[in-house]
Amino acid sequence: MEYNFPVTRTTHPKPRPADESKLGFAQYFTDHMFCMDWDEGQGWHDGRIVPHAPIEIEPASCVLHYAQMMFEGMKAYKTPSGAIQIFRPEMNIARMARTCERMCIPELPGDLFLAAVKAVIWEDRDWIPSSPGTALYIRPFIFGDEVSFSVLPAKHYRFMIILTPTGSYYAANDGGLATTRIFVQDEYIRAARGGTGFAKVGGNYGGGMRASLDAMKYQCKDVLWLDAAEHKYVEEIGTSNAFFRINDEVITAPLDSGTILPGITRNSVIQLLKKWGVKVSERKLAIDDIIAASKDGSLQEIFASGTAAVISPIGCLNFKGTDYKVADEQVGPVAQKLYDTLYGIQTGKVEDDMGWTYKLFDLK
Ligand code: COI
Repeated sequence: MEYNFPVTRTTHPKPRPADESKLGFAQYFTDHMFCMDWDEGQGWHDGRIVPHAPIEIEPASCVLHYAQMMFEGMKAYKTPSGAIQIFRPEMNIARMARTCERMCIPELPGDLFLAAVKAVIWEDRDWIPSSPGTALYIRPFIFGDEVSFSVLPAKHYRFMIILTPTGSYYAANDGGLATTRIFVQDEYIRAARGGTGFAKVGGNYGGGMRASLDAMKYQCKDVLWLDAAEHKYVEEIGTSNAFFRINDEVITAPLDSGTILPGITRNSVIQLLKKWGVKVSERKLAIDDIIAASKDGSLQEIFASGTAAVISPIGCLNFKGTDYKVADEQVGPVAQKLYDTLYGIQTGKVEDDMGWTYKLFDLK
């Protein structure tokens, strides 16, 4: 279907960040945003592009009380030939459908979603950065804003897309890779079987903030979650999925418990490692085995993967107040190769022999 969204252009364009090497993550927002409404009996309607600005929301809206919302994370990249492309959007669409189903949010058709992404990026195409390590981060989200205190799905929703030029979440100052410290959280939990761990919902992250503060006390940038039932097996990192390379096997938590976010970067890492002939396993891995591997020297690498995090190597785990080094605390070869390949494909600098990129438009 063809979609045509009316555009109200800003009368006050903002200056774009002068130094792309200092973008950080979500520090600047572009000039425009996409908005659309859903009403019972009418479905999704009135898609429009408007200036990025604060929105009005009735204080009794159910999302402010019961958190009926979902979000996605994607990035747009500028290639050397001037094309603007995104990465595996069909995976975001599929995950969004699963999240909406879990949260009783009306499904958004994939073609409508993509048309909205394309239209708002076109409007703010001059904001897409191209310095090493940067991208235009895309944050689509839906929330229920019916005025209601009933603990029941809303009868009115809003879908919005906002855009922010960014570096990677844990980036080094030069946009390259640097190792971070991660705190193993063995008290609080992120997700339990039957909960919303597999879905991309704000509550999963809001519930994790107490743990993130604990991590900072130990000079760690984020937490590594353990499973809810036994506090024994590693699950994921605060913002991203986690991979462990021990004795030349790369291990990540399996998705079957429903407690792990099915990351698009996670899936891409697994596919690339298989293609390269690296042994990769989706299986349960006990924190005690990782600590033992750190002590006996067989822990070769740990890295996080995610849209915001890209590939972020981890140099040290803090567990119960003690630091455990990951090899020599330097960026490992597998993490570096994954970063170079993935970011290279995404930015059009490495040939996309996986068919993962999706061209939105050409700038020239
Ligand atoms: C993403 O990687 O897109 C995310 O949504 C993670 C976010 C918590 C920073």
